[in-house]
Amino acid sequence: MNSRTDQPHRAGATTADIEAHYDIGKDFYALWLDPGLTYSCALWDGIEGAPGNTDVLRKAQQAKLRYHLGQAGITANSRLLDIGCGWGSLLRMATEETGVRHAVGLTLSTDQHAHVRSLGLPGVDARVEDWRDHEPDDVYDGIVSIGAFEHFTHPAMSRDERIEAYRAFFARCAGWLPPLGRLSLQTIALTDHADADHDDSVPEFFAREIFPGSALPRLSEIATACEPYFAITGLREDGAHYARTVRAWSTRLFQAREQAQLLVGPDIYRRYRTYLRASEIVFLRQASTLYRLTLRRWPARRGLAGPSGSQALPK
Ligand SMILES: C[S@@+](CC[C@H](N)C(=O)[O-])C[C@H]1O[C@@H](n2cnc3c(N)ncnc32)[C@H](O)[C@@H]1O
Repeated sequence: MNSRTDQPHRAGATTADIEAHYDIGKDFYALWLDPGLTYSCALWDGIEGAPGNTDVLRKAQQAKLRYHLGQAGITANSRLLDIGCGWGSLLRMATEETGVRHAVGLTLSTDQHAHVRSLGLPGVDARVEDWRDHEPDDVYDGIVSIGAFEHFTHPAMSRDERIEAYRAFFARCAGWLPPLGRLSLQTIALTDHADADHDDSVPEFFAREIFPGSALPRLSEIATACEPYFAITGLREDGAHYARTVRAWSTRLFQAREQAQLLVGPDIYRRYRTYLRASEIVFLRQASTLYRLTLRRWPARRGLAGPSGSQALPK
């Protein structure tokens, strides 16, 4: 489960790490996610209602997707890149609601890829592809990445190594955007309260049992890494929104416990219930939080190449 041998050159979670989590089966996730299968923190501004209610969760997830498309400046004429497209909910909103006619989605999970393909979204090219291998033939007008950044480094890396890995990501994104083009990024991050706790058991549980090969960033690492390429023009700190989201997921999983155990067995069911309940506590105690960052590429400057010259950018 934790093997890095298939892709030893990769800085973060490997394909095997990702598939260990996401390919448990779409039917299991469908029991407790919203109907669009969005697997990331929702946006709860002005949304009330019971945590387990399907319509309430769907509304909050759609509000989040709409927010990111807006922050990335996506309109009907835009070319959109979704890095870590999951089961395709952002791509679906972009094509069906915004009217986007050209979008590319990247995932490392074959199960997610098969699902996105099955949606038959016009103008959407979904790929099982690491962003490090992505070579577009034209620039994008905007990029969205929700809940994937958490997988770009692994727990054994030092702070400097993490910054280097994140910088490589920002360099690639900047190379795929025009000057002043925007990247809307959402990620969980560690806070200083994580250190104050002096309790490694929860992060260790997550790294071992739930998200093998992945490690969380800190805001200072993101800021340092993106600075050569992007201005940070927007920042929301929404840890309370994640506490509410995981509460909704764990309530729904509990409500569907019989079906869930039939699908994945009692051990995996118990592991996911523990992970979702523990996550709520982690967000409520603010040991981790959720950031939504809007990043605007600096105006053109020397050394920042577009797709045709993206080989020149650090990988
Ligand atoms: C938590 S899911 C979020 C999915 C989706 N954005 C959402 O909000 O529902 C993380 C996604 O990131 C993808 N991912 C992780 N590392 C990646 C990488 N290096 N390149 C491309 N996709 C990656 C996973 O395959 C998965 O689709």
